[in-house]
Amino acid sequence: MKHLLTTSELEIKEINKILEDAQYFLNGGKWTHEQKVFVANLFFENSTRTKCSFEVAERRLGLDIIPFEVSTSSVSKGESLYDTVKTLEAIGVHTVVIRHSQDRYFDELADKSGVSILNAGDGCGHHPTQSLLDLLTIKQEFGSFEGLKVAIIGDIAHSRVARSNADALVRLGAKVVFSGPKEWFNEELLANGMYEEVDTAIETSDVVMLLRIQHERHESKANQTAEEYHLAYGLTEARERKMKPDSIIMHPAPVNRGVEIADCLVECERSRIFKQMQNGVYIRMAVLKRSIEHIEGGANYVNIN
Ligand code: CP
Repeated sequence: MKHLLTTSELEIKEINKILEDAQYFLNGGKWTHEQKVFVANLFFENSTRTKCSFEVAERRLGLDIIPFEVSTSSVSKGESLYDTVKTLEAIGVHTVVIRHSQDRYFDELADKSGVSILNAGDGCGHHPTQSLLDLLTIKQEFGSFEGLKVAIIGDIAHSRVARSNADALVRLGAKVVFSGPKEWFNEELLANGMYEEVDTAIETSDVVMLLRIQHERHESKANQTAEEYHLAYGLTEARERKMKPDSIIMHPAPVNRGVEIADCLVECERSRIFKQMQNGVYIRMAVLKRSIEHIEGGANYVNIN
């Protein structure tokens, strides 16, 4: 597979290889390639972490980034995503990183596209590189996923992170529970984890992963203030004190401080939120390496170090 579209398409051995490569890069390992590789980042939705860390990863690998801004491209003249990607392919771009508000935007592209597509988030669907960087963060902490309990708490139904993570974590041997407002619990997720009341989930889990309310994807409950949400479902200071001694806090970010997590806990000792962001660069290097290795003639690429 030259693309990376969802975590579910990755076999466990492929996930482990990406995690190994990311850790190798994090430890200062080098890798190079012999021909010019052009990459374009197509962000149809806003992003800070994913967009910037993909760019850092691309620069670290010595790739040539073709500047692309949706607002100044021919998308504004009505050009479709399909034709945009076919155009980039025609002019020699090898890999496109795409974030788009449409669930599974890649279905119309994957089979017909000669470029590698790296999914940087599709609507409420999937966010595979976020999931992989979360897995790396958990692995660094606990060494293995077997027997770990991971609580994913918040706006589950609209979260591409929840879906991608639950799928991968369960296959790797972890137990996943979901918590938060029940009306935001997606029945489809039951295959990968049960619903658990928020206090129980926080007190009994090794990893407490909070999610932002995805206001851009749905109308929030008008009768609940941010403070009420925080008290009902957030990681309050009182709840944090009841967490297991070695358990950690994660959040894909951006964080709404004081809503899904108390402000003072974002950078507390248990928090791995900024570590996740750092790991994002190395995961994206590993994912880009995987895509470059699939370019025809990729056998010429060499490992150094
Ligand atoms: N976690 C994440 O995807 O952040 P951005 O939306 O800033 O990329």
